[in-house]
Amino acid sequence: MRAWYLDESPGRYQWGEVPDPEVGPADVRVRVRATALNHMDLWLTTGLPKPPRFPHVPGNDVAGVVDAVGERVTEWVPGDEVVINTAVVPADALARGDDSVLDPAMMLLGESCWGGHGEFCVVPGHQLERRPAGRSWAESASYPVCYTTAWRLLRRARLQPEDTVLVTGIGGGVATAAMMLARHVGARVFVTSRDAAKRDRAIELGAEGAFPSDEPYPITADIVVDSIGPATWDFAFRTLRHGGRMCVCGGTSGPKVELNLPRLFFKQIDVIGASCGSQSEFRHVTDLLGDGLPVVVDEILPLSEYPRALERLRSAEQLGKIVLEHPEP
Ligand SMILES: NC(=O)c1ccc[n+]([C@@H]2O[C@H](COP(=O)([O-])OP(=O)(O)OC[C@H]3O[C@@H](n4cnc5c(N)ncnc54)[C@H](OP(=O)(O)O)[C@@H]3O)[C@@H](O)[C@H]2O)c1
Repeated sequence: MRAWYLDESPGRYQWGEVPDPEVGPADVRVRVRATALNHMDLWLTTGLPKPPRFPHVPGNDVAGVVDAVGERVTEWVPGDEVVINTAVVPADALARGDDSVLDPAMMLLGESCWGGHGEFCVVPGHQLERRPAGRSWAESASYPVCYTTAWRLLRRARLQPEDTVLVTGIGGGVATAAMMLARHVGARVFVTSRDAAKRDRAIELGAEGAFPSDEPYPITADIVVDSIGPATWDFAFRTLRHGGRMCVCGGTSGPKVELNLPRLFFKQIDVIGASCGSQSEFRHVTDLLGDGLPVVVDEILPLSEYPRALERLRSAEQLGKIVLEHPEP
C-alpha cells in the first residue's frame, strides 16, 4: 500500500510504498477515509518515542470502511463504516471494562504499531465501533484520541454539573475535547491560551472565561485538565480548591514538573493520569458524537498535505483537530 512512513527516528516522513499489512484471523482491514493529527505525529520524528520497527506508519485517529475481515471475525463485514479505538488491547483485556486500557500489552495505534496515514489500517475487530451517525468523515476522525482521553480523565475526576473546570492550552485537541465534554455535563469551564484569538474563540464555543497561559489564573477550580506540563503546571495547580483533581495526559512543554508536596497533601488533591481509554469509554464518546456533541475541526487537508499539516501543529497555529482526507478508492 502507499502511506506516509518513517524509516528512522529522529527522521522525516516520506510518502511511498510499504508492505501491505497482514490480516490475522481476528483482524479487520479498514480502508482509511480520514485521519487526524496528534502531537504524537511530531514526537515520533524526534526519537521520543522511537517506533519499535521501521518502516513505521503514523496516524492515531482513524475512520474508514471495512475492506476485509479475518476468518474468526463475525461482527464486521466489508462495507461497514467504522472508527478505531487507538488503545489497542488483547481481546481478553476487554473483560476488565474501563480498566482494559491498563493491560500491560496495550499499544497505541500509530505509535507502537502501524497507524492510519496510509491506504489501509489493520486492527483486531474488537477495536472498532460503528462511526457516529450523521457526522462527516473528518469529524469521525477528529474525536477518537482526544475525546476518549478527555472523557477518561473527567470520568475518573468524578465530574459533576456543579463543578468548575480549568482547561489549559485550548488550542490542543485534548483541551477542546475536555471543554466540550465538561460543558456537555453542565460544568463551568475556564480555559487558557497564549493566543488572544483562541481565547475569544473558546468563549464563543462555551467557555465562561479565558486567560493568558503565562500568568496566574484568577479562579478556583474543582478540576484542571492539563496536557502542557511545566509551562502551566504551577499556575494550574494553584487554582485547585481543597479536594480538587489535577488531570494530566501530556507534557507538550516538557516531561518534568515541580510538585509542591504541602500543597498536594494539605489540600488533599488527586493527581490523575490517562493514556487514551477503554473500549467502553470510546463507545460512550462515540454515542455522544452520534447524539450531536460538537467536535472542533480546525482544518481539513488532503492526505498529500501531511507535511503542511505537521507544520501547522508544530507551530501551534491550530484550535482543535487538523484532519487529513484520504482519496476515495
Ligand atoms: N495521554 C494521551 O492519551 C494523550 C492523548 C492525546 C494527547 N496527549 C498528549 O497531550 C499533549 C497535547 O496534545 P494535543 O495533540 O491535544 O495538542 P498539542 O498539539 O500538543 O497542543 C496543545 C496546546 O498546548 C499549548 N502549548 C503547547 N506548548 C506550550 C507552551 N510551551 N506553553 C504554553 N502552552 C503551550 C498550545 O495551546 P495554545 O495555542 O492555546 O496556547 C497548544 O495548542 C501532547 O503532549 C500529547 O502527546 C496525550
